[in-house]
Amino acid sequence: MSSSNSNAHSAPTADNTAMPATEMPTDAAHATPPAFVHDTVLLEETVAAVLGKKSLPKTPDAVRSSGVFIDATFGRGGHSRLLLEHLADDALLIVFDKDPEAIAVAEALAAQDARVRIVHDSFASMNDSLKALGIEKVDGIMADLGVSSPQLDDGSRGFSFMRDGAVDMRMDTSRGEPISAWLERVDADTLADVLYEFGEERHSRRIARAIKAMDSYDSTLALAAVIKEAHPNWQKGKHPATQSFQALRIFINNELGDVDDFLVQSIGVLAEGGRLAVISFHSLEDRRIKQFLQRHSKGQYPEDQALPMPPVRPRYFNKPFRVAPSSSEVKGNPRARSAWLRGAMRTAVAYVPED
Ligand SMILES: C[S@@+](CC[C@H](N)C(=O)[O-])C[C@H]1O[C@@H](n2cnc3c(N)ncnc32)[C@H](O)[C@@H]1O
Repeated sequence: MSSSNSNAHSAPTADNTAMPATEMPTDAAHATPPAFVHDTVLLEETVAAVLGKKSLPKTPDAVRSSGVFIDATFGRGGHSRLLLEHLADDALLIVFDKDPEAIAVAEALAAQDARVRIVHDSFASMNDSLKALGIEKVDGIMADLGVSSPQLDDGSRGFSFMRDGAVDMRMDTSRGEPISAWLERVDADTLADVLYEFGEERHSRRIARAIKAMDSYDSTLALAAVIKEAHPNWQKGKHPATQSFQALRIFINNELGDVDDFLVQSIGVLAEGGRLAVISFHSLEDRRIKQFLQRHSKGQYPEDQALPMPPVRPRYFNKPFRVAPSSSEVKGNPRARSAWLRGAMRTAVAYVPED
């Protein structure tokens, strides 16, 4: 889900990360009707990966897996529901989401399926949440990062620059403050830094000054119009507010910090042979996942490169992989265009936390 656009998947860049695709849709993708449609991206590929299979068996009943699994980003449960079809009656599926609306959907599923447990919190709370549930190790973890289609499609959540609503942008509306409260008090330099760091917006200073000159922050359309006016370099097929909205959303939800914490925690949480499978939708996230897997499966620590005698590093993962959506998936679901699935298998090496 999340993300946007048309035609084929973005080609990898030179460093093998995704092209600078954004979470926020283009005009075209955003112009789809506001029905809360949710097309789960890389559905079969992710579920197969988390089960350690090349592809899903055609007859799940014959070969259902036992064990404990995590869906770190339940959303509307697309990945969870397919995974449950392939899990045995004694398996457990722990689902996380920050969003109260996603949790309400998860509660309806849990009412029908006793294998489902729900955590209304960030996946960055994975260690503590599993402890609270009395679970030490799990056999698979999947995550489908970013915003969901329902979050984007509901203007009142504040994620959309094409639908009017409060300038909120929180995934968890039960905690914290909307981005509008932060915009009220932040100075233009700090705002520009956020637009640059989390949106890779080259015109961040100019846009930040324009935003700070606004009288109020109570309309996403008004905010988008000010950014559009301030942006000197419009690109065809891309709303000029795309990167700024992405930056504000990533910032207020601490998205990158949560991903970093979650990835590190996965090392301690996964049992030997357990699988990690993570879908990302923009290069800021994909780069982090790629570097995490390089570090822990190939022993490539950038800080070791200058050392005459690099230390021997533990290899917590092996068999790292990367999968893009098929062209037919991208054709049917433009939001899949910028998605990458990366993952690996946990080795037997005991986890020793880094300082
Ligand atoms: C891309 S959607 C997931 C869609 C899901 N795979 C499905 O098939 O319906 C991402 C979901 O992750 C949630 N989310 C994002 N960051 C999170 C975090 N740090 N912790 C928990 N949930 C998060 C969002 O609220 C959203 O519901």
